[in-house]
Amino acid sequence: MKLKARPATIKDEAQLLAWANDQETRRQSFITKRITKKEHHQWFSKVLTDKHNQRLFILENDDKSPCGQFRFSRNDENDWEIHFSLDAQYRGQNLGRQVIRVCLDIFKKNDQRLRLIAKVKKDNLASLKVLAAAGFEIEKNSSPDANNLKLIYITK
Ligand SMILES: CC(C)(COP(=O)(O)OP(=O)(O)OC[C@H]1O[C@@H](n2cnc3c(N)ncnc32)[C@H](O)[C@@H]1OP(=O)(O)O)[C@@H](O)C(=O)NCCC(=O)NCCS
Repeated sequence: MKLKARPATIKDEAQLLAWANDQETRRQSFITKRITKKEHHQWFSKVLTDKHNQRLFILENDDKSPCGQFRFSRNDENDWEIHFSLDAQYRGQNLGRQVIRVCLDIFKKNDQRLRLIAKVKKDNLASLKVLAAAGFEIEKNSSPDANNLKLIYITK
């Protein structure tokens, strides 16, 4: 299966809420409570309009069915954070590396030298593996006791 990315549109709102409330995705997030339709609507409207700081993409398979999503959110001028997930039915098929590859292909199109951060819970082994395989490195001064890790990827 070949995953392709396209920018999210207003039509993706319900699908993105369903993915956001996926049990495993909530468990691996830093705010674990379920997201209401209203909260999601406010958040999503802001993400779609704040083009300077937010880039949200839908992953599609060969049939153009939605398989997952990823988002870059800006922390600072050259400093971004990545969020990603696959629909539960597409997990466990070794597509994780491809997800990150598609993310980085888009991220690296920018000419500047950028830093991309992934904040991952320590028990999120699938995410840690796919990020490490793509060249993300654990931040050197990460506290060994923290229950989450910061992984960093620098372009160029
Ligand atoms: C993160 C995510 C995209 C990874 O995709 P996936 O389909 O589950 O993972 P893959 O099948 O590609 O497997 C990747 C690697 O993790 C391993 N793996 C997968 N699930 C695992 C599990 N539950 N425990 C341990 N290892 C696991 C695989 O064996 C594979 O290892 P390899 O690279 O040595 O072959 C997906 O799990 C997901 O959407 N999770 C919920 C959202 C999330 O956690 N997002 C990231 C927040 S930072």
